Amino acid sequence: MAPGGFGKGAEEGGVAGSGGTGWRRRRSGAGKTLSAADEGTGGEFGMSLVGRDDKERIIERFSRHVSSGKARFFREAGIDFVFGHREGIYVWDLDGRRLINCHCNGGVFNLGHRHPRVVAALRRALEELDIGNHHLISEHRALLAERLAELSPGDLNRVVFGVGGGEAVDTAIKLARGHTGRPGIISARGGYHGHTGFALAAGDPKYSDPFRPLPPGFRQVPFGDLEALKEAMDDSVAGVIFETVPATLGIVVPPEDYFAGVRELCDRHGAVMIIDEVQTGLGRCGAVWGIDTYGVAPDILVTAKGLSGGIYPMAATVYSDALNPFLDANPFIHVSTFGGAELGCWVALEVLDILTEEGFLEHVRELAAVFEKGFRELLAAHPGVLVEARQRGLMMGLKMANDLCGPLMTLAGFRHGILTIYANNDTSVSQILPPLVMEAREAEAVIEALDGMLAEVERTLGAQE
Ligand SMILES: Cc1ncc(COP(=O)(O)O)c(C=O)c1O
Repeated sequence: MAPGGFGKGAEEGGVAGSGGTGWRRRRSGAGKTLSAADEGTGGEFGMSLVGRDDKERIIERFSRHVSSGKARFFREAGIDFVFGHREGIYVWDLDGRRLINCHCNGGVFNLGHRHPRVVAALRRALEELDIGNHHLISEHRALLAERLAELSPGDLNRVVFGVGGGEAVDTAIKLARGHTGRPGIISARGGYHGHTGFALAAGDPKYSDPFRPLPPGFRQVPFGDLEALKEAMDDSVAGVIFETVPATLGIVVPPEDYFAGVRELCDRHGAVMIIDEVQTGLGRCGAVWGIDTYGVAPDILVTAKGLSGGIYPMAATVYSDALNPFLDANPFIHVSTFGGAELGCWVALEVLDILTEEGFLEHVRELAAVFEKGFRELLAAHPGVLVEARQRGLMMGLKMANDLCGPLMTLAGFRHGILTIYANNDTSVSQILPPLVMEAREAEAVIEALDGMLAEVERTLGAQE
């Protein structure tokens, strides 16, 4: 059984620090025990609001009232999957088809779907809390911030809470500019930090061009290239922002000395080093933070997705004491009504308890080794289509022969029981981000399915030649 996994009763304690209030004890009390459904179909579950017989009508409603473009895109691609029941590593289509979730919304479902301890934490919180008031002093925000500070590298000691990753990136960029009084922000070409204002300006032009003019001062460099960064750096640069392993760029794992070099260049120019751990954080790379695996401490670390436990939105911009004078002097210059909602603090604290439990990160590293071995076999078996297996822990990507391959793999996944999505800024790469709580035998099942999917893609490419 994976540490922190399903079927495991919740344990007492786990929040670092002295004492332990009644709140703490209650928060970590016993949770409901569920077992990962090994078999079964969505037909057993009754959570659909309108009835799964009406799948086509749901798609129509979605098209009419949510996104006609998305509905058209999926229709044209032949994808009619509608999230129905979900539990553990699995999601079910409304009509009962079961998939292993190897997308996990980029890490939202690091702990699988509806982890019983996370669900129980929210239930307990609902007995006495609500969102709280973001202007006032909050016990629960203070406790979560303290825990994040304990788990963060270097002297990252303070937190601004948000609701989503883009907002938390915006906060990081505000902080870098506010602290330095400079305009410049350098990011990776083809990187992705969200769709909000500053985050959008730091990302790929394909998402931002229609919204020009963008805030000035943003420049991009090729990721992983220290010489290019060196060229771009000057004393007008407020901050440099990179994902540890850029997901949307195609799970690009940088050279081992890259972030030490980034750190050095930021120090030399007095710029703030921002690391976006929205996807790579919270155990995904086999350490608490992806950047820990490079032995480097940034000035600001951004986390979101997985902090929610897949249950309650939460994002955090964790920053160094050295940057505090700006916010200390301007405490109301940035607010977020729902950021750090007190209900979500309980959920996030439970997520962090699970993450730091003995054996959790070891399990991630063991699973990563299972995938590494499997990828070697897949590379040998599919030389015509599979070009490279990229991996940092369970942050994984399969680089294939051409830009069609990612979409073809996603389609093949629906036939082979795997939910996987391609990297939007390099569609030759399939992102493979399984839940961290998966069992080794389930990882092997994923490898077997990938084998079948690659064979299908190979056949399709062959037929096109
Ligand atoms: C690396 C990274 N940063 C930021 C974001 C933005 O997060 P959100 O969608 O919660 O705003 C994402 C979302 O996918 C991401 O992958």
